[in-house]
Amino acid sequence: MPKWTNQTALVTGGARGIGAATCRMLAAHGAAVAVNYARRADAAQALVAEITAAGGRAIAVQADVADEPAVQAMAARTEAELGPITILVNNAGIGWAATIDTWEPKGFARLRAVNVDGTIHAIRAVVAGMRERRYGRIVNTSSIASFGTCGFAGNHFYASTKAEVNILTKRFALELGEHGITVNAVAPGLIRSDMTQGSRTPAEWETMRENFARNAMAGRVGEPEEIARAITFLAAPDSGFITAQVLAVDGGRKDYIGHGA
Ligand code: NAI
Repeated sequence: MPKWTNQTALVTGGARGIGAATCRMLAAHGAAVAVNYARRADAAQALVAEITAAGGRAIAVQADVADEPAVQAMAARTEAELGPITILVNNAGIGWAATIDTWEPKGFARLRAVNVDGTIHAIRAVVAGMRERRYGRIVNTSSIASFGTCGFAGNHFYASTKAEVNILTKRFALELGEHGITVNAVAPGLIRSDMTQGSRTPAEWETMRENFARNAMAGRVGEPEEIARAITFLAAPDSGFITAQVLAVDGGRKDYIGHGA
């Protein structure tokens, strides 16, 4: 496959999991990559070293996506060091386990600040340049929880933030389409990552993995690289006629009711 030319990508939450797999894949296609991290500079630097050793271009850029001035500064630094940002991947996200009874405003505010406001902040930081150059690829990270039809106990509020990401994806696509900018989202099913496997005991993960695998057409959970592939597809220069889409990458889980009797 020919390599892309003149592409610079900013990947939020790029130091691990789906974000790191995306950084590796975009770099392999020839994009210069800014690996955003909030706190783990060591993980981001290690990924930069790996990409550089493989012949790619990358830098690590710190910012909490909930902090708009920090995100603006991060985008400016990326453009100064790597060139105009042509690809934005809004991957940074957090979970929050709460029910109607355990909901409290501080936790919900932080969830929304990262998953929703963070997405808006990063788009606002890159959109003026993309408009001016009449080119851009924005890929947001949703979740199949956003569709509301499946999920598991305790992730209602997380699901609601991802539903907002879906709506904003479509509305921003409308606003930006005439400027040569596409806006899409990828909605992963259960993916093995620090967010899912890393936050559970091995026994808890095994139970969860089995439950989710049993209820997916593919009969398994997914790997970060499988989400990175979909993000990279939507970020590609020749994907310009695909916009306002929320692509589920879930092994058929959201459409699975079960095998008939
Ligand atoms: P992860 O927890 O391994 O990675 C998330 C990354 O975002 C981390 O590097 C983290 O440091 C970063 N991050 C968190 N808050 C941040 C902030 N305020 N500013 C900057 N960076 C921040 O999770 P994973 O699984 O790789 O998830 C990536 C995205 O995919 C998230 O948006 C998540 O909601 C979404 N997703 C994941 C699924 C899964 O099963 N793993 C399923 C559906 C959606």
